[in-house]
Amino acid sequence: MGKDVIVACDFSSKEDTLRFLDKFQGSRKPFVKIGMELYYAAGNDIVKEIKARGHKIFLDLKLHDIPNTVKKAMKVLSDLDVDIVNVHAAGTKEMMKAALEGLTRADGTRPLLIAVTMLTSTDQKAMEEDLLIKEPIGEVVMHYAENARDAGLDGIVCSPLEARLVHDRCGDAFLTVTPGIRFPESAGDDQKRIMSPEKAKAEGCDYIVVGRPVTQAEDPVAAYERCIREFVD
Ligand code: C5P
Repeated sequence: MGKDVIVACDFSSKEDTLRFLDKFQGSRKPFVKIGMELYYAAGNDIVKEIKARGHKIFLDLKLHDIPNTVKKAMKVLSDLDVDIVNVHAAGTKEMMKAALEGLTRADGTRPLLIAVTMLTSTDQKAMEEDLLIKEPIGEVVMHYAENARDAGLDGIVCSPLEARLVHDRCGDAFLTVTPGIRFPESAGDDQKRIMSPEKAKAEGCDYIVVGRPVTQAEDPVAAYERCIREFVD
């Protein structure tokens, strides 16, 4: 898998999601991100339906539990034939290794496995006061990234602003999957640390995750195709 644009399908029902994806008949089929809201609302049905329509899927469920439970859950997700899944790096290297084991099928194939480092909703203050982690947050993020690499994972979710540093620390082959993408002329919504698809490409991001700039666009197909032109072509 190379550079691609992943569309965050943050819808709350199967119907809304399929109505949105119907617009792409006749265009390139987007790589789709299914998050907790849609998965808990529509379950494996929506995963299978989107897969049957020929889309690649990033199932963004951010697993975090004891290693044995994560391993078994990953086996179930692997059988779903999705393309990317993720865990919290905070679950430890042992948990990440267990996740990889669970994901790996009898024939040796498996979906890509990436880690979430420190959530972007957690700032230095919350990290220090709630989690009792005193180091600078940037260092914690890089430490978690290195743990993920050492555990054998394929990459991490990070800000496009961190992609270059992650590649420097963890190697070019370690994938950076980056949300927080906006076209230069559009609003950032609740995203603060944003970057355009074109700039994300220049920064070496491997996958960009784009939600509202495509899903809420007047012409979602045109917005998606613009992302492809600026980031992939
Ligand atoms: O609509 P928008 O482009 O902001 O959507 C970005 C997607 O990436 C959402 O599904 C959001 O939950 C996810 N995400 C993020 N920031 C992170 C991790 C995930 O925006 N740090």
